[in-house]
Amino acid sequence: MKHLLSVDDLEKDDIVNIFDLASYVEQNWTKIDRYGDLSGMSYATNKCVASFFAEPSTRTRLSFERAIQWMGGHVLSVADASSSSISKGESLKDTFRTIGQYADMIIFRHGDEKWPDIAKEYSRVPVINAGSGAKEHPTQALLDLYTIEKEIGGIKGKNILFCGDLLFGRTVHSLIKLLTKYYNCKIYLCPATVETLSGPKSLMLPNEYSDNLCYVDVGFALKILPTMDIVYMTRVQKERMKNDLAPYPKIDNLELTLPIVNTMKHNSAILHPLPRNGEISEEVDDDPRAAYHERQLRNGLYIRVAVMEYLMEK
Ligand code: CP
Repeated sequence: MKHLLSVDDLEKDDIVNIFDLASYVEQNWTKIDRYGDLSGMSYATNKCVASFFAEPSTRTRLSFERAIQWMGGHVLSVADASSSSISKGESLKDTFRTIGQYADMIIFRHGDEKWPDIAKEYSRVPVINAGSGAKEHPTQALLDLYTIEKEIGGIKGKNILFCGDLLFGRTVHSLIKLLTKYYNCKIYLCPATVETLSGPKSLMLPNEYSDNLCYVDVGFALKILPTMDIVYMTRVQKERMKNDLAPYPKIDNLELTLPIVNTMKHNSAILHPLPRNGEISEEVDDDPRAAYHERQLRNGLYIRVAVMEYLMEK
């Protein structure tokens, strides 16, 4: 495995190894300043990693950059494509060729779903997909899986409810691919509905992901909530529907309030890739089941160190 461009690049052994490494990083994160000091050697020490984000990001970019610093590496950062030569018409092919002359690894996010194919062909250094349009977000899927395992003590056979934008939510796509391929979970889908110029649209999962999964409406989702181990909430990605949305679109999405959360099992967990747009009330934030604000975010650091180290080692 040279790149991590899709969750399809991950064998089960890769996931196990990355989780072992992430757990080691987690145990030592606060004890030391640099991973290289701990292990005697980090593959990233004094290496240069380009962090190139052509779509907005807070968590993915900053956690990758913090992870690189912790590993003792250096960051070359492009946080806005309008400041790069992409805005002057440079092709992605040339962009990858160029960055590869300056960096030892590339973290890349772009709205074009097909960019990973270009990276695979033209990048001479490893590339990690930090978001490819509405299609994939593999490191988010890994950190979500790692969070699920830690929150509820395992993944296999668990009941997981996905709510919100299942059509454009790349984190949902990558996570569901891994859950269905390796973990045999029972997955329930509660898609949001939005008002578009051509009428109400249900944001259902694209067919390629949704074989044998169970769709529920908001009413039924509330009924099965007490039996769920994980509830994975997502926002409606209005930016992916710019030309189709009604002027003031009505959005029908499950909203988790504290009374609703109190119907859930004590040993269940609520995840959200964030940012949120009203689908979880702030009153839920202090509930022990709310993993999204602290534990899920912190796990992003450990998983991203582990993924970079794992790829560099290979
Ligand atoms: N979860 C996630 O991808 O967040 P950002 O868009 O802030 O990176």
